[in-house]
Amino acid sequence: MKWIAAALLLLPAFVFAADELPDGAGKEIIAKHCNGCHQGVALSRYQKTHEEWDSIVTRMGQRTVASREELNTLTDYLATNFPKVDDPTKVNMNKATAKELVERLALSDKEAEAIVTYRDRHGNFRTWGDLLVIYGVDGAKIESLQDKLSF
Ligand code: HEC
Repeated sequence: MKWIAAALLLLPAFVFAADELPDGAGKEIIAKHCNGCHQGVALSRYQKTHEEWDSIVTRMGQRTVASREELNTLTDYLATNFPKVDDPTKVNMNKATAKELVERLALSDKEAEAIVTYRDRHGNFRTWGDLLVIYGVDGAKIESLQDKLSF
């Protein structure tokens, strides 16, 4: 009965409490299309860029009958109200220049260049683990720096 356990794992454990959500067009769309599935934790604990919200809303939208227009409105609403805020104490690995990587993380010039070149070619990193595959970058060093990095 493995599939039952698998199905249970898929149950979303959070609801987007309507009264916790800021006013705006997106609030009604969430009540109409999203709350049917979500129970428990507030949507506000998520902080995402517009691009990230767009991909989540598009993915979730496939499970609803919401129109593309409603989903676009919802993406704008979420990106405005729950934006990704950069933590200034951390180095954003998707934005930092090679110089910043050297100065703030004490990486070697070679490592910093390798990271920036890799990022230019492959796009944004999602976690520190993504940095481990970059040739010429010391994995143990990256692992020890993980709490100082943001993405
Ligand atoms: C048919 C049920 C269902 C509907 C409708 C639904 N969701 Fe979800 N949602 C899920 C499930 C299951 C998960 C956890 C698994 C996953 O991420 O696919 C989830 C996960 C999420 C996450 C976390 C995703 C992440 O990457 O961390 C967000 C945010 C979310 N939903 C938002 C929404 C929004 C906004 C809507 C309305 C447009 C919505 N959901 C509609 C079932 C649903």
